[in-house]
Amino acid sequence: DKGIYPYYMLKEIDEQVVVAHTLAQYYFDEAGQIRNIDDKIIEAIKAADRLYIVAAGTSYHAGLVGKRYFEQWTGIPTEVHISSEFAYDQPLLSQHPFFIFLSQSGETADSREVLDNIVKQGFPSLTVANVMNSTLTREADFALPLLAGPEIAVASTKAYTAQIIVEAILAHAAGNSHVDLKNELAKAAVEMQVIIDQKAAFKTIAEEALRGHQSAFYIGRGLDAAVAVEAALKLKEISYIQTEGFAAGELKHGTISLIEEGTPVFALLTQSKTAGLVRGEIAQVAARGANTVIISGKSLAKKNDAFVLPDVNELLMPLLTVIPAQLIAYYATLDRNLDVDRPRNLAKSVTVQ
Ligand code: F6R
Repeated sequence: DKGIYPYYMLKEIDEQVVVAHTLAQYYFDEAGQIRNIDDKIIEAIKAADRLYIVAAGTSYHAGLVGKRYFEQWTGIPTEVHISSEFAYDQPLLSQHPFFIFLSQSGETADSREVLDNIVKQGFPSLTVANVMNSTLTREADFALPLLAGPEIAVASTKAYTAQIIVEAILAHAAGNSHVDLKNELAKAAVEMQVIIDQKAAFKTIAEEALRGHQSAFYIGRGLDAAVAVEAALKLKEISYIQTEGFAAGELKHGTISLIEEGTPVFALLTQSKTAGLVRGEIAQVAARGANTVIISGKSLAKKNDAFVLPDVNELLMPLLTVIPAQLIAYYATLDRNLDVDRPRNLAKSVTVQ
């Protein structure tokens, strides 16, 4: 039931904070120790010489974020793969791979094909899904729930943030980091709510930047590049504005030729290591007439940035950064009088290859 909401998507964006709290309660005890993750899962991850995250669409994008957690906290090299590619073009694998399938529905045919293949090869696997008792959760060796509650809108929102949280928890449990993750996630959840409460700002940003435009860009580096591809998918899939999301440093290698007077370029700027470089890239597109909309972290913000995000642990910034992107997509779509929840040509669960 949509309740007071005009669309499920808006309801599901709002619910992300509840999901974050639910996950924290489920996966951490009072003392901040991890629970509800079978020791065998942790042992299987630790025994691997390489992790392979396999998923499609938004879930794949959550994998691009999770890779950083696994590599930083467990020290295990981690690859992220698009399931429809991996299924028919399996890369050379390490000696002791461990597979992590990410899926909202648990029924994505492309991911099922990969799971089938790797089960036949005898490799261990875990599915992290929102729908438990789905094909992907049943057929993997292990399964963990996203606990996001039903996601009805075709555009995935709360499943993405839930996937990032579960990846962080899993990497933290299998690794040795000094981050007080329970506490850091609690802080992130508080700040997610602070951003959601400022929805109206994104309505204005979306209308001013995107009205009358048929193409847009999202740029960022590192974790911001990972969020940029998700931000672009969200905007394009429901508003039909052709949007590219990519690593900001790639602009100069070709894409910058697309920048014209007024082209909307959203820049995500939350990673201190590369903030200076991204500022340079923003200046380059602005010099060619782009209408730049900068969404920055508080400690990196400058006077004319369009929206300033509260600071949380830099690794967890994607949980915050994606919310403006989801809301901008939502309001840009409303502004075009389109059905936010049911974009053309798409199904919620893609059960064909
Ligand atoms: C985009 C979206 C899709 C799904 C993809 C994978 O908003 O929802 O890209 O993420 O079809 O689906 P799941 O996660 O169910 O495997």
